[in-house]
Amino acid sequence: MKIAMVGTGYVGLVTGTCFADSGNVVTCVDINAAKIAALEAGKIPIYEPGLEELVVRNHEAGRLLFTTDLASAVKDAELVYLGVGTPQGDDGAADLSALWAVVDGLAPHLQPDAAVVVKSTVPVGTNAAIFSRLLEHTGRECHVASNPEFLKEGAAIDDFMKPDRVVVGVRDPKIGEKLRRLYAPFLRTEKPFLVMSPESAELTKYVANAMLATKISFINTMANLTEKLGGDINDVRRGIGHDSRIGFAFLFPGVGYGGSCFPKDVRALEAMFSRAGIDPVMLQAVDVINEGQKRTLLEKMNHFYDGDLTDKTFAIWGLAFKPRTDDIREAPALALIDELLKAGAKLRVHDPEATENVKAIYGDKLTYCDLPLETLDGADALAINTEWAEFRQPDMTEVKRRLKAPVVFDGRNLYDCATMRELGFTYYSIGRQT
Ligand code: UGA
Repeated sequence: MKIAMVGTGYVGLVTGTCFADSGNVVTCVDINAAKIAALEAGKIPIYEPGLEELVVRNHEAGRLLFTTDLASAVKDAELVYLGVGTPQGDDGAADLSALWAVVDGLAPHLQPDAAVVVKSTVPVGTNAAIFSRLLEHTGRECHVASNPEFLKEGAAIDDFMKPDRVVVGVRDPKIGEKLRRLYAPFLRTEKPFLVMSPESAELTKYVANAMLATKISFINTMANLTEKLGGDINDVRRGIGHDSRIGFAFLFPGVGYGGSCFPKDVRALEAMFSRAGIDPVMLQAVDVINEGQKRTLLEKMNHFYDGDLTDKTFAIWGLAFKPRTDDIREAPALALIDELLKAGAKLRVHDPEATENVKAIYGDKLTYCDLPLETLDGADALAINTEWAEFRQPDMTEVKRRLKAPVVFDGRNLYDCATMRELGFTYYSIGRQT
């Protein structure tokens, strides 16, 4: 099939590249000329394992094209995918200005039988609103489908190639069948292709992310309780997870969820509740608990140092909001860094991928180290925000030797408490006893 993919951000680029890889001809469009030039030259603007080689391979094979010219890409396309950003607006709701600019721009060039497919995360009713807007522009009823994305950063290619399910929302079953054919190469393992109304598809995306965010805030709030009452949240997690109705996934306590999706999608769904006249109390709690959880390491540090962090030096491991990405949007590490700098502390930081992004914000306010162990030299304590694999089994004797005092604040429960105590560390973690 001939596909136009409008928006070469994270979702657009991964989706376009994977569709090209299964044999379609995909033209990726972006208004950012520098980004398109870089992609033409095989340079990927984001860090995502496996993406670069896939882009280069399909580009060289002539199946993956890049352009800033929306009209030419749309003119030949059977499917026009919209993958533009829908960031959080001032009122918490999704800001759809980029999406409307694209819809207005593509309308004169859309083929009569082509379908516009919304990949961007958009509030319920957006599909219907696009349908009306295209009717105004073209004078005909255009096909508009919704096809939300469930990719995780750091595992996006795998998630796309082997999805748990594909969800599409259509008015016309023929478009559903076309999309089923498009996804057939990725659904070889009998995973479901779910066809529903556009409204249900739009809502599925938000409900999925809100459910996952709720699980995280739920376990984090329980972790705070075990810290106070005694017990170990890991044992509690095991105790509940073996109940097949509950399971284990997404119940790891930590320093709160970050990234470009959960925080914005929870707030956007909250705004949809308010607009519908329903009290969004549950989603508000998820958000409030998460903001509080981002302060948990700071509180532990304040407790240990009796509220005086002035002129203390801290080593910080992990800046990205999660491992295998360089993304620092809404990263808990940034909330900690801001507070520690405000309190007069000095920081020596390391992240395998996100350092450049952090440098762009903090400049010389932080000391950037190439290796995790290097951060420890002369530091009063170590604080861990992200569970990168390379932080899981450091040489603890060396960690102790380099630190001024053997104190670790672990926001991801990477180490065994008893072992840390035996090694002589003061070890703070999440939902476990110090
Ligand atoms: C999330 C969803 O998992 C994807 O399905 C969805 O497509 C995507 O948002 C999106 O809407 O585009 P992502 O933001 O890449 O994906 O990251 P996750 O792996 O879901 O992690 C989100 C945050 O939750 C991270 O900060 C992570 O550290 C935290 N988390 C995750 C926990 O604190 N505990 C857990 O048990 C799991």
